[in-house]
Amino acid sequence: MTAGPVILGLESSCDETAAAVVEAGVRVRSNVIASQDELHAEFGGVVPEIASRAHAERLTPVVRAALDEAGVTLADLDAVAVGHRPGLIGSLLVGVAAAKALAWALGVPLVGVDHVHAHLYAGALDAPAPPDFPAVGLVVSGGHTAIYRLGSWLDVARLGATIDDAVGEAFDKAAAVLGLPYPGGPRLDALAQTGDDRAHDFPVSRLDSGSLDFSYSGLKTAVLYAVRGTPIRDVGEPRFPRDHTALSERDKADLAASFQRAAIDAVLLKLRRALEGEGDARALLVGGGVSANSRLREALPGLAREFGLDLRLPAMRYCLDNAAMIAGLAHHRLAAGAADDLTLRAVPTTAC
Ligand code: KG4
Ligand code: ZN
Repeated sequence: MTAGPVILGLESSCDETAAAVVEAGVRVRSNVIASQDELHAEFGGVVPEIASRAHAERLTPVVRAALDEAGVTLADLDAVAVGHRPGLIGSLLVGVAAAKALAWALGVPLVGVDHVHAHLYAGALDAPAPPDFPAVGLVVSGGHTAIYRLGSWLDVARLGATIDDAVGEAFDKAAAVLGLPYPGGPRLDALAQTGDDRAHDFPVSRLDSGSLDFSYSGLKTAVLYAVRGTPIRDVGEPRFPRDHTALSERDKADLAASFQRAAIDAVLLKLRRALEGEGDARALLVGGGVSANSRLREALPGLAREFGLDLRLPAMRYCLDNAAMIAGLAHHRLAAGAADDLTLRAVPTTAC
């Protein structure tokens, strides 16, 4: 006996190949993730062609592992869900094609899910009760930085978003400038623990007084100049007087801590602004890779308390890209009669 529909979720939007089995939208029976970090590390970022090829090679064994770990067979599945937008088109296509084939062969519904909205769902996984709505949502990841108002899991409106880099991208770029290996976000977070976050006064982007948008390009440039010096513009391309090898371990830690303070304070500033404007909100939903950040995780409970909100901060295993959040959100689309058919498309852009 199961407590509700059993859904297989697939996720292949970027560089994690993932499959999960989730029952009744909350009970995670398996959550398998094959990271491709080692394939992209030497290039310092995700190479789309390599990512699609790796998804194609890994998806079948990852699905098999997810079914085995959950103790189910294909015949037990009530639906197949897939993150079909946004992401790298070649990567998305692998998951979407696999989900269509499975759903068609099994004769079960196919459910397409927005990857960014699914990040907002991550904190509801394994939880004893769902959050109340309306809610304010924050997605902070390598590809997205945005604030939402949710009337329900399926009624999501974007209030603001980054106008340039995503916060996770800024973490990865700052880490690279400091000489930390890819992907740098978690490593920069660890290094920041040992530094003085007031050593450098990096800019916290505010934009217009009422704006809920984010900007990380100024902070990225400030860190670049702090590490390498002001560029020399004589003949040809501008040159930097030094690089991270000129820094002591202490300098690096201070730069990491100061960057992290500015990057996370900018998130908290906009989130606070959004909460002030959404006085009827009952819950605060947070997701995306940067929700694993220690400074952000430390600050959020106090902010939620101040506004009387039920904070849903995902367990670490659901912060980064995963398929449990896809299968979980798909449960609600399925229940609302919003399943898709075999015309479902992979779409590189976000819906809202
Ligand atoms: O959600 P995710 O797996 O992929 C996207 O949908 O983009 O997020 C990955 C991002 C990377 O930029 C990574 O550096 C960042 O999340 N990240 C962190 C931490 N852990 C992961 N950034 C800051 N601090 C962390 N602890
Ligand atoms: Zn993501």
